[in-house]
Amino acid sequence: MCRVGVFDSGIGGLTVIEELKKELPKEDFLFYEDSLNNPYGEKDNETIKKIVENIVEYLIGQGCKIIVIACNTVTTVCISYLRNKYKNIVFIGTEPAIKLACDKGYENVLVMATPATIASERVNVLITNSKKDFENIYLVPCDGLANAIEVGDILRQDELIHSIYESYNDKNINAIVLGCTHYPMAKKIITKYFKNVDLLDGSNGVARECKRQMLLHNLITNKGNGDVLIINSKDR
Ligand code: DGL
Repeated sequence: MCRVGVFDSGIGGLTVIEELKKELPKEDFLFYEDSLNNPYGEKDNETIKKIVENIVEYLIGQGCKIIVIACNTVTTVCISYLRNKYKNIVFIGTEPAIKLACDKGYENVLVMATPATIASERVNVLITNSKKDFENIYLVPCDGLANAIEVGDILRQDELIHSIYESYNDKNINAIVLGCTHYPMAKKIITKYFKNVDLLDGSNGVARECKRQMLLHNLITNKGNGDVLIINSKDR
């Protein structure tokens, strides 16, 4: 039976899985949690590609025909490369919700993401395609934050988010794009500093797109229960 393959550099992917289960309650999921290689977002693009090829081949070997990249870093750095290399596989990407922020008309938007995501050409394209004249979009490479979340280091998360707040608290930020799937897990700390700010992430859109593509490619099984089998790279 075809399971939906999902992967991320660790627990961040679970924030996407939550939405996938809501949209596709009768499918099962195989989640490859690559804690061993966390953080991706502080590695160079070639290293990220190599790590990811290995995971994609593992998921294909497990019978997955559709793979959800529950990671903004991998999506912005190499989804086109993966689509080109594995032509029979349907890839669903996760991107920073910059378009959503612009569509909603926020004036001052902070985009938090990993250094690799912020440096990617794709983020540039997203801004060019979505930005009207009036928005101010502040890009913040959050060095160390995904890893602090991965290892559960609350003090470090607090320190990092506090210093972002210090740098941007005069900008009257209205919305924060959580451009890394780990960051929704730090929502409490983010809103402790940035009060009255809307937090946006793309996971619901990812789940809806996954369902749409499964219907389109005849991949819906209706035989699952929303079960998630987790394989962690540390145990492989
Ligand atoms: N959760 C990932 C993302 O959405 C990657 C975090 C990392 O490993 O740096 O970007």
